[in-house]
Amino acid sequence: MPETAKRSFPHNFSPGPGAIPEVVLAETREALREVPGTGLPLLGLGHRTPWFRSIVDEAEAHVAALLGLGPDHRVLFLQGGASLQFTMIPLCFLRGRGRSADYLRAGYWSAKAVPEAEREGRVKLAWDGRPGGYARLPSDGELTLDPGAAYFHYVSNETVEGLQFDRVPGLDAVPRCCDMSSDFLARPLDCSRFGLIYAHAQKNLGPSGVTVTVIRRDLLEAIPAGLPPMLDYRAQAEAGSVYNTPPVFAIYVTLLVLRWLRHEIGGLAEMEKINRAKAAAVYAALDAAPELYRLRAPRDQRSTMNATFTVPTPELEARLLAEASDAGITGIEGHRSTGGFRVSLYNAVTLDSARVLAGFLGDFTRRHG
Ligand SMILES: Cc1ncc(COP(=O)(O)O)c(C=O)c1O
Repeated sequence: MPETAKRSFPHNFSPGPGAIPEVVLAETREALREVPGTGLPLLGLGHRTPWFRSIVDEAEAHVAALLGLGPDHRVLFLQGGASLQFTMIPLCFLRGRGRSADYLRAGYWSAKAVPEAEREGRVKLAWDGRPGGYARLPSDGELTLDPGAAYFHYVSNETVEGLQFDRVPGLDAVPRCCDMSSDFLARPLDCSRFGLIYAHAQKNLGPSGVTVTVIRRDLLEAIPAGLPPMLDYRAQAEAGSVYNTPPVFAIYVTLLVLRWLRHEIGGLAEMEKINRAKAAAVYAALDAAPELYRLRAPRDQRSTMNATFTVPTPELEARLLAEASDAGITGIEGHRSTGGFRVSLYNAVTLDSARVLAGFLGDFTRRHG
């Protein structure tokens, strides 16, 4: 029986909220009936209970273990999505500091962070990809970095364009603040090189509603007093990520995904191997038909998380979408700002699904290439 026919739901390449591991979906269904050991359904459990404290503590511990974090870093679970991090970072680290911040504008999402910082202080663009239509990432030599900057902000994987850094840009002397929303926990990471990392959950970690921030303790301690507590990392840390009512459902499901990533996948090195195999299968199918599939990203900057491409005509685009849907493949439309296609291969997308998609792209080439 073909893979598509066996499944009760489509192969989901959604850019976010993205796929959730099947085992986690099953556990979530069960938790909606009754969370093991509590006698209550997930949606009726209070955030001030010892149960919820243990959920947050365990989730923090999994993130710390997966990343090999030491006591120098704190893990926080915050609200407001990645977009609120665009605001919180300059509020906490730029406002009133008498220094500027360096921002890399290399895609749709890193561009969105810039005006939020400009509200709080002076911003210098370390490099600007906008005139070039965000077609590529810069080399180290192209960056203009200020050794006196308050911090350096960039996005490790530009989700819309499908451009991913395979290195850590910036100066070690300046705290790096990195938006890893679309590639967090998809590969091993040396957190000692970052001051702050953030990622909303809805791509690699779980449902929307919660954002994970990993922050260096010395930065936490340097945050000035008097900020609105919901926007103050230190207040959130002091409250153990439960300053107000947090998204209990999202944090619980994120915990289930973290357990899966640690215990079923076996950690980030294993996750990276699977992610690379998925990306290799899809890019090979695309590369096999360069007249039909026009990849957006330069080869050495292609994202393992988001493969972006166009086809020559609107008719072929409509046909590809319709035939993909018939084949049980969903979520591959490009971002509204770019059009074309974007295949998202986040952690929970299986190698089987990636192979089904690659097979479909090959068949489509034979029929229409
Ligand atoms: C890299 C990146 N940053 C930020 C955002 C915005 O996230 P949110 O909707 O959680 O604010 C997105 C959305 O997809 C993204 O991909």
